Amino acid sequence: MSRTPGDTWDIVTSVGFTALAVCAARALDAALEPPLANDTFAASFVAASGEPNLMTALAKTDLSSAVGFNARWVGVRTRFFDDFFTSAIRCGSRQAVILAAGLDCRAYRLVWPDDCIVYEVDQPRVLEFKQQVLDKRGAQPSTRRMAVAADLREDWVRPLVAAGFDPAQPTAWALEGLLPYLPGPAQDVLFEKLHELSAVGSEIAAELGPEPGELREYAEHMRTVRQDGTQSPILDLWYDDPHINIKSWLRERGWDVTSADLVDKAANDYGRPFHGLPPVFERLLRTKFFTATRKR
Ligand SMILES: C[S@@+](CC[C@H](N)C(=O)[O-])C[C@H]1O[C@@H](n2cnc3c(N)ncnc32)[C@H](O)[C@@H]1O
Repeated sequence: MSRTPGDTWDIVTSVGFTALAVCAARALDAALEPPLANDTFAASFVAASGEPNLMTALAKTDLSSAVGFNARWVGVRTRFFDDFFTSAIRCGSRQAVILAAGLDCRAYRLVWPDDCIVYEVDQPRVLEFKQQVLDKRGAQPSTRRMAVAADLREDWVRPLVAAGFDPAQPTAWALEGLLPYLPGPAQDVLFEKLHELSAVGSEIAAELGPEPGELREYAEHMRTVRQDGTQSPILDLWYDDPHINIKSWLRERGWDVTSADLVDKAANDYGRPFHGLPPVFERLLRTKFFTATRKR
């Protein structure tokens, strides 16, 4: 474990690199049939980073690489969160918060009503890199967008509110690829804050972190996929310490919680079934995702 309290990163180091790796996977998703992520910005971020392994995988459209392997499930995950926002807007949310947004470009890719606002929270240097690349492309968001630089283990509420967030309005919250990077106590505080800030009608889509033991199984599998046989950096970056059952915690506080099985969704809703998925990936995709709506 290379993590320490208060550690920070840029886009090519530590946890920041995972945002870039996910982005490369989304860029490769375009080569799969059917593509699910539809992220036309992803390749620009990888190119701007200059990260050689990811650039090579993209240049070769190398679906047999570790990045290519990730493309299959990242595409499905991206689509799940895309659909969540589309549905939350239909149900009336006009405020979206993407916690640990990384290089997520939903504020540019999705169609939002005119009166929406999307807040993207992440580490300052990740957001700076993202802005530079988007500016260079001359990209314009399809809604109002506010980047909020904060550490999600510390006080992220104050900068979010300072950026204009209104706790009286229902909010659509996304936690995609975040929770494994937070130690258990930080997760608990994050959900307490999220609950305090959520008006009735607010919605959450989230991906849970690994249970104790799952991390090693995942990392072992990724080692077999990595062509150089090296260990996956995830082993050093994810936390699998004990944490509360978030779904039960939310139910006790008036949220309706629905688990989402992404293996079934891939086959039945997205038209891209998985074949020969390694057991550890199948379990993560079947059991780690949920949506929730605050009823009281
Ligand atoms: C795997 S990436 C996911 C990015 C994005 N959600 C996506 O799916 O493309 C993890 C992201 O979590 C962010 N992150 C992790 N821990 C964080 C923290 N304590 N504070 C702010 N951001 C954090 C990283 O900077 C990185 O952008």
